[in-house]
Amino acid sequence: MTMRTIEWDDNSHKLKMIDQRLLPGRFEVAVFSDYQQVGQAIRQMVVRGAPAIGAAAAFGLALAAFQSSAGDPASLRADLLNAAQTLIAARPTAVNLGWALERVLHATKDINGSVDELRKAVLAEAQSIADEDVEINQRMATHGAALIEDGDTILHHCNTGALATVDWGTALGVIRMAHQQGKRIHVLVDETRPRLQGARLTAWELSQYGIPYDIISDNAAGYFLSRGEVQKCFVGSDRTAANGDVANKIGTYMLALAAKDNGVPFYPVVPTSTIDLSLASGEEIPIEMRDSAEVLSLALFERRVAPESASARNPAFDVTPARLITGIVTENGVAYPPFEQSLREMVQGGRPGTGSRG
Ligand code: MRU
Repeated sequence: MTMRTIEWDDNSHKLKMIDQRLLPGRFEVAVFSDYQQVGQAIRQMVVRGAPAIGAAAAFGLALAAFQSSAGDPASLRADLLNAAQTLIAARPTAVNLGWALERVLHATKDINGSVDELRKAVLAEAQSIADEDVEINQRMATHGAALIEDGDTILHHCNTGALATVDWGTALGVIRMAHQQGKRIHVLVDETRPRLQGARLTAWELSQYGIPYDIISDNAAGYFLSRGEVQKCFVGSDRTAANGDVANKIGTYMLALAAKDNGVPFYPVVPTSTIDLSLASGEEIPIEMRDSAEVLSLALFERRVAPESASARNPAFDVTPARLITGIVTENGVAYPPFEQSLREMVQGGRPGTGSRG
């Protein structure tokens, strides 16, 4: 890609983000000058993907800092808190959103200087979150790519690439790294109903990287798994609980069930910023319910599929229980069961010996 998914423009003090609703048809960059617009962009999925919305929210706070007319640090802090409340309400499942906002607010806690210094500190922390995201993704990719063998066919769900992050990607970043290492791989791309992040965004990214792939309808995954045509599944996560239960894009759970039944290893690729140790299990993860129009507006041959009077339910995520998961790839190594222990170690920075099975 020619630019990062999210970029701060130092000259104009504005935020630029690739408008992901328009891809692959049109590559357009949307420019944001206030945090309210950023909140809306997250909700409407101009920007999406757990790490990407975390970084977008952090820059949203930077916009709030520059928007604020506060004359003293205390008033600016109050404005920032207000903005953080608006931004965190945009989407509930990805923990990166709250994590990034918390991190920016925390970084400014001990600054006793002027309003201007406080503004600069907010921006600096948002920029660090964005820069670290890229570096963390590449570390995850190295750990994950070690699990991929020459000749593997990999099944992938949703979009977890550069577009879902600041750059490089999580699960798709692993696939990219394996390809870059010269491994001959093929990717089966779940189209990922209802927003079709797989068919639109993952396929677009894979075409750019020159990685061979086929799009499959989500309900074809079991077919390919049962025929022995898939060697590994790699997916992302929006929030992972302390016991290793993984919330990810709707359909991940069914994929994990089919993978387990066919003995195919299943690996979520999860930066430690997505691990929420405050939640004991996936049951506690809030699941976003989105507008039924996302399901009902599907058209085939230019005709709406569902009857005009139809109703629909549209959970955006589901939870894959830890028992279906082979290993969780993080930037500090690969965590294996029991996840209660190994995930905690990963969050603490990993330990010698992690990153290899057993
Ligand atoms: O609703 P989305 O498109 O924001 O959902 C994105 C996913 O579920 C990704 O798989 C997830 O964020 C993890 S990988 C970056």
